[in-house]
Amino acid sequence: MAPSAPSAPPTHANPCAAEIAAAVAAVVGARPEDVKIDQPPNRALGDFAVPAFPLLKAAGGGAPPALAARIAAELPRGGLIVDATATGPFVNVKVDRVRAIAMAIDAAVGRAPLVPDQGQGAVVCVDYSSPNISKHLAYHHIRSTMLGHALVEIFTALGYRVVRINHLGDWGTTHGMLLAAYQRWGAEYPTIDVTALNALYVRYRAAMKEEPGLDAEARAWFKRLEDGDADARARWQQFRDTSLAEFRKVYDLLGVAFDDERGESFYEDKMPEILELLAGKGLLEESEGAQVVKIPGDKTPLLIKTGDGTTLYATRDLAAALYRQRTYGFARSLYVVDRGQGLHFKQLFTCLGMLGFDWASRCQHVPFGLVRFGGKKTSTRGAVGGSGGGQFLLTDVIAEAVDEVRPRIAEKNPDMAPAELEAIAHAVGVGAVVFANVVPQRDRDVDFDMEKVTSLSGDSGPYLQYTLARCWNIERKAGELVDGPADWTLLSHDAEWAVARKLLEFGEHVARAAVNCEPHVVAHYLLDLAGEFSRWYTQGNDDATLRVICDDLPTRRARLALVHAVKRTLTRGLTMLGLAEVTRM
Ligand code: ARG
Repeated sequence: MAPSAPSAPPTHANPCAAEIAAAVAAVVGARPEDVKIDQPPNRALGDFAVPAFPLLKAAGGGAPPALAARIAAELPRGGLIVDATATGPFVNVKVDRVRAIAMAIDAAVGRAPLVPDQGQGAVVCVDYSSPNISKHLAYHHIRSTMLGHALVEIFTALGYRVVRINHLGDWGTTHGMLLAAYQRWGAEYPTIDVTALNALYVRYRAAMKEEPGLDAEARAWFKRLEDGDADARARWQQFRDTSLAEFRKVYDLLGVAFDDERGESFYEDKMPEILELLAGKGLLEESEGAQVVKIPGDKTPLLIKTGDGTTLYATRDLAAALYRQRTYGFARSLYVVDRGQGLHFKQLFTCLGMLGFDWASRCQHVPFGLVRFGGKKTSTRGAVGGSGGGQFLLTDVIAEAVDEVRPRIAEKNPDMAPAELEAIAHAVGVGAVVFANVVPQRDRDVDFDMEKVTSLSGDSGPYLQYTLARCWNIERKAGELVDGPADWTLLSHDAEWAVARKLLEFGEHVARAAVNCEPHVVAHYLLDLAGEFSRWYTQGNDDATLRVICDDLPTRRARLALVHAVKRTLTRGLTMLGLAEVTRM
């Protein structure tokens, strides 16, 4: 497997951790990035824990407990650090909560950077969505689309320049089949939309089983297309435009856009160079009439050219990779594609390496698991080709989610105007489906359960949007928005500290999500933040001394600032994951 170029370890994106690391580094003579900052197993021990072991080398050896004791003794107090004690090989650090809260709020409201500028303009290419034309966007396309979109936002937030690539499947023998099918039966379809194209394709495939000649006919059509035959080209262009127009509707619904939507066909005139390069290195071999590259250790070779001289998916991916490197000079090039294509990408990157491209190691397949419709109450109306084995149309699943959340929002907001209700139900329904795709660990399969993903109270998108709307509600009720400064000593309750502490972790989680391309890290963080916020806020229902909108104006001011900081962070995080901001729910 080609190694991926890792980004810098996101050690200290938490501003508090950064200050502690700098102080510890100064004591031992290490670099701040060598200082690991953890959480103590027990909050009573301290706010942060520093393991001594990773610092032994810098400190000149010795036993970890002795080093921990030395660090604890020598760490200067008075700034952020109020106390440090050694427990075995760990130093437990207590921080000045008032200072830490100020840091958290400053970052959340934009007075300090919320996310570290790690990328400094380095380019990351993200190839995502990349559907095949003449087919509907089925539900499973959403995982690539939304994971890719989240990665785009995450890398952008970290200061990378991101190129959003939709590598449309618009070339290859499939398109020969479509042209052949159209030639035979096109007249039977009054409008050539994606449904008709898909039907033509399915019909042709079925007919191929009966009539052996159809295979050759499709190949001949693709050859005509590759050779630039005007009729074939015009027809193909029509299919492509029709498909893209339909895709665009779904992308608009999801708020997804691309910078580079060239698709496989664009690389057609760039393939001769690839073939020459491969031949020049002596990598091309004949195998059963086809041209292949043998990949050391693999049973199957990488197919480059068929017997009739047409190029293949892999050939176009080789050309596309080279084009991307030349055009964008990427630091990382990511391919967000289902894990079923693992072998293809492994072979692709190996082949690029065999061609002598050192940047091959910067290419990375970002695989993801399948979406299973197991739970009850899942979409049935959209199963293409009937139930069982049928595909679910993305637009149908979204429409069903919107239907699901609409009455729940209406129940909570009996006076809401119908137009507003519709807009919010739409944002929440889309959000539910989007979140369901980014919250599971990327490489895991997803069990889609409509009831669970649209619930306002579980680990769902609607729950996060609802929490955000609650923040808006509090500010509306208070009649003011406070983003500081305020007297932070008044936020002295543990529940308030827990919220602030979570706020401090945002940048760290965003940076962590980028390392292994795992948007779920951000999703889980947001659930934790919403959880801490809800704990604090609901305590105020039972304990009047904790109410946000209280009589003591300085306290109310400080608490409103904390609410505002949560609101800003949730908004930032939700947008990052592709969910819309909801201000009332
Ligand atoms: N069109 C392909 C499919 O639907 C995915 C393309 C992924 N990107 C790539 N560069 N191969 O399976």
